[in-house]
Amino acid sequence: MSSSRISGLCIQELQVEYKSGQVALGQVNLTLPEHGIYTIIGPSGSGKSTLLRAIAGLLPNYTGELLFNGKPVHDKDILVGLVPQNYGLLPWKTVHGNIQVAMKITGAAGGDKAEREARITHWLSSMGIADLADRYPLSLSGGQQQRVAIARAFAILPQIMLLDEPFSALDAVTREALQQIFLDNWLAHPATALFVTHDVDEAILLGQRIIILPAGKADSIEVLDNAAVFGMKHEEKRGSNEFFEQTKRIRKVMQEKW
Ligand SMILES: Nc1ncnc2c1ncn2[C@@H]1O[C@H](COP(=O)(O)OP(=O)(O)OP(=O)(O)O)[C@@H](O)[C@H]1O
Ligand SMILES: [Mg+2]
Repeated sequence: MSSSRISGLCIQELQVEYKSGQVALGQVNLTLPEHGIYTIIGPSGSGKSTLLRAIAGLLPNYTGELLFNGKPVHDKDILVGLVPQNYGLLPWKTVHGNIQVAMKITGAAGGDKAEREARITHWLSSMGIADLADRYPLSLSGGQQQRVAIARAFAILPQIMLLDEPFSALDAVTREALQQIFLDNWLAHPATALFVTHDVDEAILLGQRIIILPAGKADSIEVLDNAAVFGMKHEEKRGSNEFFEQTKRIRKVMQEKW
């Protein structure tokens, strides 16, 4: 079968070098079915953000091919929602304004004004931040800004969602609450999601598959199937035997490749 006919996100022989000539991301070959959440872990500098940037179309130079349902990922009709590592909010726009602008730029602003307003309100409420609509990003805590960035990514109704350590600024309790909120929102709009995290537990709690990037750029990527944990009720995952087994598997890969 021709690779262009494979459905989902197909990453073929992707490699990135920045101008310095240093390899930022070794060869990546991944086929990720549509409507799944894939968590990505790897040591600092292993290329996690670079991988997301390449898919988001933010890198002018890379080699390899990126396809979504057989079409180039950067086609105009494929919407990609990105939650960058630094939130990427416009400081001169309110929370509401940030989402409005994103909808306008991506052409996701279909429907009439009332419908668009309802959509903004819906995603803000679902992230628990409806009361922050008129505030400016710099007046918000890191965790609040992360929620705005996630609401904004959902609001454009993307086919692909890229999240770069979206919960890194949160305390453990808030983090767990937001993991649940994220999963609930994702179920309502199951985009193909790549979710970068530093946290092994989070990778197991959220991912259908877990992608482990190695420290050495010539070393191979490990992909663990995590369907058993993914299928459980969120609150039952952490205490399960499968969760414990996955932790051990990941630790083993980390010992070998980090
Ligand atoms: N704009 C750039 N120019 C040159 N090199 C870069 C650039 N951005 C990243 N790199 C290099 O590419 C490699 C991968 O960086 P990247 O930011 O993708 O790592 P990461 O896995 O996201 O790390 P972290 O966990 O610290 O966020 C690093 O060696 C980094 O120094
Ligand atoms: Mg990064």
